[in-house]
Amino acid sequence: MSALPPTVQLEENEEVEEQNHVRLIKTLEGNGITAGDIKKLEEAGYYTIESVAYATKKCLLTIKGISEAKADKILQEASKLVVMGFKSANEIHQIRLNIVFISTGSTEMDRLLGGGIETGSITEIFGEFASGKTQICHTLAVNCQLPIDMGGAEGKCLYIDTEGTFRPERLIAVAERYKIKGDSVLDNVACARAYNTDHQTKLVVQASAMMAESRYALLIVDSATGLYRSEYNGRGELAARQTHLNKFLRMLLRVADEHGVAVVITNQVVAQVDGAASMFGGDTKKPIGGHILAHSSTTRLYLRKGRRETRICKIYDSPCLPESEAMFAINGDGIGDVKE
Ligand SMILES: Nc1ncnc2c1ncn2[C@@H]1O[C@H](COP(=O)(O)OP(=O)(O)OP(=O)(O)O)[C@@H](O)[C@H]1O
Ligand SMILES: [Mg+2]
Repeated sequence: MSALPPTVQLEENEEVEEQNHVRLIKTLEGNGITAGDIKKLEEAGYYTIESVAYATKKCLLTIKGISEAKADKILQEASKLVVMGFKSANEIHQIRLNIVFISTGSTEMDRLLGGGIETGSITEIFGEFASGKTQICHTLAVNCQLPIDMGGAEGKCLYIDTEGTFRPERLIAVAERYKIKGDSVLDNVACARAYNTDHQTKLVVQASAMMAESRYALLIVDSATGLYRSEYNGRGELAARQTHLNKFLRMLLRVADEHGVAVVITNQVVAQVDGAASMFGGDTKKPIGGHILAHSSTTRLYLRKGRRETRICKIYDSPCLPESEAMFAINGDGIGDVKE
């Protein structure tokens, strides 16, 4: 490859708002909506007009200081600015043709995914330990910054690390593969360690605020379910766990929708005791999180270990991709193709 950029310089100016098609909630001020109301909404994680337009009245009423009359007024003003009715299939087709995909680093896997990781939706990666979930996240954190014609999305990355496995040096190794300066790549990745499920949720609110200020292309949560697993025990706490997890995933969906970023979450697998093993090709492992997770992720990828550095990625549950597999490799410089 030639003419590679020596550094990745991402937009950091007022045009961000326009480029991201983000309309900040601040602009709703007036017409009976005060600066104080805006502040309350922002503190609850609503930064864009879309976010309130898509919210239910019930959700807005849970915000401290927002009365019923105020919620009505906010919804009314937001819905004047956000088109939420039917669109022609042709229009939707045009929008889909313009969706940006982030390369995984492996041409085989990109082909399997129809171009890479889709922006504007949630991709879940699940698989057993050392199957490559975290390594894929690290490669994506660099690739999302690349120009579009190189498989990137020209945006920064936010990384929520719940297991303490984020390693900047792995990003530098991936950057070297594209002959990009490591420190410029690291400048474009903001990482936070999450310590419990409430904290993990708060970090998504912060992420949403950061995305309103600057151009991000990717939000990673590695892993999305790990803390849930350690905080909630046994069948007795299952309902509470699922309720919390559901709220978390809905926030992620909102971020993907509002900011058009790719959301990538990882998930562990547990050994399966029931008889549904056939669904996973005779495999005895299944992802954690149950139906709630299955219904929130648009694309679900199942990773299996192959020989040495090779791994197999299989698609589950995609609305438009067939259930098929691709081989990839975990290399020193990130995810790549299997060398013959
Ligand atoms: N610098 C490196 N060069 C080559 N391979 C590496 C490098 N670092 C890690 N790996 C390989 O990556 C694999 C670990 O992958 P990864 O950390 O993505 O697993 P995971 O799916 O996230 O597992 P877990 O469920 O434990 O979080 C190991 O097989 C390891 O050998
Ligand atoms: Mg991991």
